[in-house]
Amino acid sequence: MVSMQQKIRQPVVSFLGHVDHGKSSILEKIREISILKHEAGGITQTIKSYSISVESIKKICGDLLKKLKLKLKIPGLLFIDTPGHAAFNNLRKRGGNLADIAILVINLKEGVMDQTKECIEILKFYKTPFVVAANKIDLISKNELDTKIYEIVGDLSKYDIDSDRYDRIDDYTKKIAIIPCSAKTGEGIAELLMILTGLAQKYLEENLRIKVKGQGKGVVLEIKEEKGLGLCMDVIIYDGVIKKGDRIVIGGLEKPIITKVKSLFEPLKGKLKELKEVSAAIGVKINAPNIKDVVAGMPLLVIKDLEKDKKQVMKDVEEVLIETDKDGVVVKANSLGSLEAITGLLKEHKIEIKRAGIGNITKKDIAEAKSSKDLLKRVVLGFNVSGSSKEVKVITNKIIYKIIEDYEEWKEKESKKLESKALEKLVYPCKFILLPGCVFRQSNPAVFGVKILGGKLRTGTPLMKDDGTKVSEVKSMQLESKSITEAVINDEIAIAVPKIIIGRQLKENDIVYSDIPEDDFIKLKKLKKYLNGNEIQILKEIADIKRKKKAIWGI
Ligand code: GTP
Ligand code: MG
Repeated sequence: MVSMQQKIRQPVVSFLGHVDHGKSSILEKIREISILKHEAGGITQTIKSYSISVESIKKICGDLLKKLKLKLKIPGLLFIDTPGHAAFNNLRKRGGNLADIAILVINLKEGVMDQTKECIEILKFYKTPFVVAANKIDLISKNELDTKIYEIVGDLSKYDIDSDRYDRIDDYTKKIAIIPCSAKTGEGIAELLMILTGLAQKYLEENLRIKVKGQGKGVVLEIKEEKGLGLCMDVIIYDGVIKKGDRIVIGGLEKPIITKVKSLFEPLKGKLKELKEVSAAIGVKINAPNIKDVVAGMPLLVIKDLEKDKKQVMKDVEEVLIETDKDGVVVKANSLGSLEAITGLLKEHKIEIKRAGIGNITKKDIAEAKSSKDLLKRVVLGFNVSGSSKEVKVITNKIIYKIIEDYEEWKEKESKKLESKALEKLVYPCKFILLPGCVFRQSNPAVFGVKILGGKLRTGTPLMKDDGTKVSEVKSMQLESKSITEAVINDEIAIAVPKIIIGRQLKENDIVYSDIPEDDFIKLKKLKKYLNGNEIQILKEIADIKRKKKAIWGI
């Protein structure tokens, strides 16, 4: 029965926010205060993370925690400092993010910035509960504080997020708490810890239950060379146990990577200390052979049932690496986590994806993008990767929503270009009058003066009279003795029309229209937004003339 023993693990808390807004500093302050209040054992550094005990939290928060009236069962909190906002994406696990709670850090002086916006979208995408640390309170005056907080509340509401200053909130399930604080003076840090602890205890307890002897599950945050050891992986274990000698399987880009834990390490006074086993939640360095193909964000499992476990990690990877024959954009990102975040946000913006992969943009990606039938989908979108092309549009950025914005903007411009090209191929609406006393040649071809009353007249435009009778087409046009190919409203020009005789088919003061074929008319109706009011009016007059002969013309 021992193996089914359950305990509550520490909730994983992750920092997000715009560069330099103070993520690392807040964590450093938490560490400092914790050491000050608790001396040994209050906070321990693990790989890429800090683990703070519940005793330490109680000491820091003092009476604040009592207000929450909670029985604290969580053993503490595990903080992960993710440098830069994109690293948060690699804290991924099947069906969501590894972070149980996030702290969105916003510098009060600067407010919501580009990367903050992206963080908000990502938090929404993963449905991660979060609090806002409104940092650098020491840099603003008391008077300014309220205004700045209101600005943040306003910015968050643009994302349908209801928020308020923490001490004005009764129910933390309904509103996101904003906690003014300073990583410099320490003001507000105890309150931040209090809210995090309260949230974790109240709303996460069930999700945090793990089997103490269960299968170790983790995610790779980084892979790098370690002096004297060779390649090592920094892994966050979020469930179960992992031991030295355990066989493990890691998701790979093409196939699962199977290896064995050679050694496990935690940091100790700037060095690495070997461990025999660790249990969730913890950050640990793992040394293992054959891991050169491992990329950040990949899932890791201690093998219990090889076939099943292999399938599970690969299923997890395949859900992110998209390969289809559909028309859609090609997406590249630097890690599995970033790729999941960008594809997730693209889907939310209803942008179809043909292929999504990891790494810089290659010739193959360009060829793939070129093969889309829809010209507006001949695009490669790159998140944290590089590459360019003369053949297809390539958009790269370090901020996902900028990529989306740029793509939408390009698409809009491109579709206008395509539509105006399409418009050029259609017979354009036009109406003109034969000017009296301006017949220069009776026939073969007839040459006479006209005034354009609206629309555009082009060489080649077929003509009809206002009773619908066809009258040949425009062979050539001259404005002030110069040849032109297009005339617009109010132009007085001379036109040459073959196969007619003036006085017979046409005479002075006659009103003439462009003879728009039915198919062109239907297309024109769809491109109406490119026509002005006068042109739309002429189009209507033409339809009226046509419908006298055929009632359902152009419908
Ligand atoms: P990245 O990891 O690079 O994204 O930055 P970060 O969000 O971790 O910011 P970091 O903690 O490195 O802080 C950036 C700068 O802001 C540093 O110079 C800090 O000393 C300063 N800083 C952070 N918090 C505060 C604060 O509360 N008050 C003041 N005055 N300065 C702060
Ligand atoms: Mg930092």
